[in-house]
Amino acid sequence: MSKHIGAQMLEFSQNGDDRGHLVVVEGMKDIPFDIARIFYIYGSANDVVRGQHANRKSQFVLINVAGSCKVKVQDGKGNEAVFVLNRPHTGIYLPAMLWKDMYDFSADSVLLCLASEHYDTTEYIRNYDEYIAIIDEEMP
Ligand code: TYD
Repeated sequence: MSKHIGAQMLEFSQNGDDRGHLVVVEGMKDIPFDIARIFYIYGSANDVVRGQHANRKSQFVLINVAGSCKVKVQDGKGNEAVFVLNRPHTGIYLPAMLWKDMYDFSADSVLLCLASEHYDTTEYIRNYDEYIAIIDEEMP
């Protein structure tokens, strides 16, 4: 666990019975924000790296509801952590201002992303050098 970096694995309860499983994720209960936006990523080849950005405002929870991928997070201060998402009842909480890479997608990967904000391109930082400069200036 890399709490120092602010990212945290979450485990949701599985409401399983002989019919299968049902996992509930409620905003402000199971995750620490209200859910404003949902998107999901699938069909990414194994050698693809997605993300590669930081968000000024959005917090996320990522859940591989099928298959698996890895998520590397960096805080811009030299700390990084890699998380494996491979169970539909676990997720990773990502606060704002972490640099994120998603990669090593399995062929059956469906990566569900819950976000605290509506989509706004202006809150995305997509240049790593710019991200480091912002961290140095605003979060020394
Ligand atoms: P992108 O941010 O590149 O995806 P990722 O971070 O997962 O690699 O987004 C891919 C495309 O989808 C891009 O054209 C922007 C668009 N998009 C939206 O319109 N709304 C959204 O909420 C997101 C996440 C992406």
